[in-house]
Amino acid sequence: MTHPILAALGVDDTHSGTYLGQGAWASATNGAMIEVRAPRDGSVLGHVQASSAGDYERVVQRAEAAFKEWRQVPAPRRGEAVRLCGEALRKHKDALGSLVALEMGKIKPEGDGEVQEMIDIADFAVGQARMLYGLSMHSERPGHRMYEQWHPLGLVGIISAFNFPVAVWAWNAFIAAVCGDISIWKPSPKVPFSAIAALKICSEALRAGGFPDIFFLFNDAGTELATRFVDDRRVGLISFTGSTAVGRSVGQRVAGRMGRSLLELGGNNAIIVDESADLKLAIPAIVFGAVGTAGQRCTSTRRLIVHRAIHAVVVEKLKAAYAQVEHRVGDPTDPGTLMGPLIDAAAVQRYEQAIATARAAGGQVAFGGGKLDRPGNYVRPTLITGLAPDAEVIQHETFAPILYVLPFDTISEAIAIQNGVPQGLSSAIFTQNLKHAEQFLCCTGSDCGIANVNIGTSGAEIGGAFGGEKDTGGGRESGSDAWKAYMRRQTDTINYSDALPLAQGIKFEF
Ligand code: UN1
Repeated sequence: MTHPILAALGVDDTHSGTYLGQGAWASATNGAMIEVRAPRDGSVLGHVQASSAGDYERVVQRAEAAFKEWRQVPAPRRGEAVRLCGEALRKHKDALGSLVALEMGKIKPEGDGEVQEMIDIADFAVGQARMLYGLSMHSERPGHRMYEQWHPLGLVGIISAFNFPVAVWAWNAFIAAVCGDISIWKPSPKVPFSAIAALKICSEALRAGGFPDIFFLFNDAGTELATRFVDDRRVGLISFTGSTAVGRSVGQRVAGRMGRSLLELGGNNAIIVDESADLKLAIPAIVFGAVGTAGQRCTSTRRLIVHRAIHAVVVEKLKAAYAQVEHRVGDPTDPGTLMGPLIDAAAVQRYEQAIATARAAGGQVAFGGGKLDRPGNYVRPTLITGLAPDAEVIQHETFAPILYVLPFDTISEAIAIQNGVPQGLSSAIFTQNLKHAEQFLCCTGSDCGIANVNIGTSGAEIGGAFGGEKDTGGGRESGSDAWKAYMRRQTDTINYSDALPLAQGIKFEF
């Protein structure tokens, strides 16, 4: 029997993973079946029919045809289409938030929060649709006008990760839509039902509003079609969210065909807590950052850089807070749960491996340190002290609720530790010392794409550009002027005089 949460969204427990437009899903082909298991107990939620090579080809051809029309629709009208998607998501927020909790394992308030992010970016995109501004320049030549304009790019490929099964798609797809692009989504094979449900909600809203299809979907059980997608010259931009290792290869392949990529890769985010910090703010921020989403956000707090004078007291307070969280580790769909399971058994193994490596390097487990003895992928929120900041295990991102606590003596040392990892996504400082805050934010301070004062590393608002430097990949999506990645810029110079002066004063007379 189809799970009631799927049924509430009109999704069967055996569903096609290929959306072809006009309400049509590809019928059974020779694509493999993706088995979807709920992380809370390992039970089978259902199956999704992966796309075949033929399905993929049909999706791309339909997307290409759709782009020829959509690019000519006035941008504010494109905004109206996205507004309808936002309205439909408001109606389905509870149901879709529940499905995200069930399928991905994040707690229900975070599942709802993720749908809220989709609604927020829809609202943002509606406004942006009237603000795709280009600059005008003063030409150096008389009787000439010079300006730039932004044209739709074409097909945008979105490859999303399991940890934000729907929001990351919306950040890309809604902005791409107002920019005049058609998007094709390849979700993580760990969470295809959330993708199918989100796509259904939005494409039905578009059809009811008389709009054409602008969002397409295919599912790949392995990596064959994903690789074809990355290499496909018809797809102008590949927006990839995932690990640094895979992202590096995606970036190289896309660059090889002169395509564009937008990479949102791993983070290794730190919070600095100096001796002036208000611990009433810092402790809850650290706890949410480190154990929220069971440490499976790319913005999760992985390192705590704390002044030596307050190291012991901060660790004690965290242990007390972690004990409270541990009592409320459980089924993500139950109200009252604070931390759900990890996505799968392999993630539990990586968590255990990181702790074993930390121990072997001389780290002490101040709290947690193992799997919980019950069915499902449940682990203990874990605090590790006593490691050097450059210990191998700390340099890597482990997608799990493990926090490494590192002492510092001076603010410049704290900033050096913060920057001393390959990744550069999110960072934060808790301080009441203005000089420390400004040193952290200035050009010699944090080297991350996100730097916060007196708030944690995760839970970024959609209005800012989201992304990071170094091994995080350099991409920016969501708010600010991230829309520019989804358009092509054209510089136009118009001569309305009777002469043909050359730029740079060059004379070419014959
Ligand atoms: C991610 O983990 O891939 O800032 C994205 C945050 C969320 C997005 C995280 N708004 O934590």
